[in-house]
Amino acid sequence: MNGACIDVLRTRRSLDDAGLRYLLCTDDRDTVRALHAAAREETNSRFGRVVWLRALIEWSNVCRNDCLYCGIRRSNRSVRRYTMRPDEILSCCERAWDAGLRTFVLQGGENPAAAEGLAPVVAGIRAAWPDAAITLSLGELPPETYALLRRSGADRFLLRHETADPAHYARLHPAGMTLEGRLACLRALRSLGYQVGMGMMVGSPFQTEDDLLADLRLLASFRPEMVGIGPFIPQQDTPLGTFPPGSADRTLRLYSLVRLLLPDALIPSTTALSTLLPDGWRAGLAAGANVIMPDFTPAEYRGEYALYEGKTASGIALSVLIEKLAAAGYRIGAGRGDYNGN
Ligand code: 5AD
Repeated sequence: MNGACIDVLRTRRSLDDAGLRYLLCTDDRDTVRALHAAAREETNSRFGRVVWLRALIEWSNVCRNDCLYCGIRRSNRSVRRYTMRPDEILSCCERAWDAGLRTFVLQGGENPAAAEGLAPVVAGIRAAWPDAAITLSLGELPPETYALLRRSGADRFLLRHETADPAHYARLHPAGMTLEGRLACLRALRSLGYQVGMGMMVGSPFQTEDDLLADLRLLASFRPEMVGIGPFIPQQDTPLGTFPPGSADRTLRLYSLVRLLLPDALIPSTTALSTLLPDGWRAGLAAGANVIMPDFTPAEYRGEYALYEGKTASGIALSVLIEKLAAAGYRIGAGRGDYNGN
């Protein structure tokens, strides 16, 4: 086994398990460099050196769910719960629009009643900024609620599958939550016409290499428009808070593998990666990512949206990011940055 499998992956857009496992695990740094270079080249040929910025607005941390890894899980009593008022959400959008961002991402805990209540806010954003994309990240909701939000003007939905192995899924989530249920939501979202984002944590507790191969197979068959991948980072107030963090190196390899499997995908260089690795955003782009999600959550709420340790400290100022992107030879995407593949 050697770097030749990079060529197979690039030309056929698929690779057998042995090849994928090799690229995920090899100690040969030359191969890893070649993998990242091939992925970046693919990104350049599709998009140029363009990076899309998405304004992340963490509008509520109220969550009915109890995911074992997540800092805003229902059982965590040390979180002060908040929900932003509609006017606060709109002023975040305004700041983002004025800064040149053309996608607003409303992310919040899983909360069906609040999600329904968000519909008029989505409609208000749509009316105020007809040319913006509206992305939602609100967890598992009834299909009617997904439909209502879509009718209200939402374009995209992020719902990571977290792990493609049903038994592993069950170990990370409370009783009653299943991979099948998660995939049913993703299919419902797609059939409603949303551009769909999936993805997984890297190095989550109990994860094996086989699980990651299953993740890649699932991504290659579902073909989501967006793929969010970040390292697991322990959060001390959760049942999985004593497990070690995932690997930044492995996360970067997965960005490259996903880029070569799904060349048109929108792949963020995630906040979790930058939490683990200084200037992780830059390494992510060099490995084939093409999206960055600057945090537009007002400072007064940011500390309460602590999905994992160190998250709030990891952000850099938007103006600094924009300067550094230019210095690194990247251009910022001008429009909404919708998925353009097939
Ligand atoms: N470490 C890394 N990522 C996490 N997420 C939640 N908790 C953690 C954690 N401890 C991610 C999940 C979820 C997204 C919103 O945040 O993948 O889908």
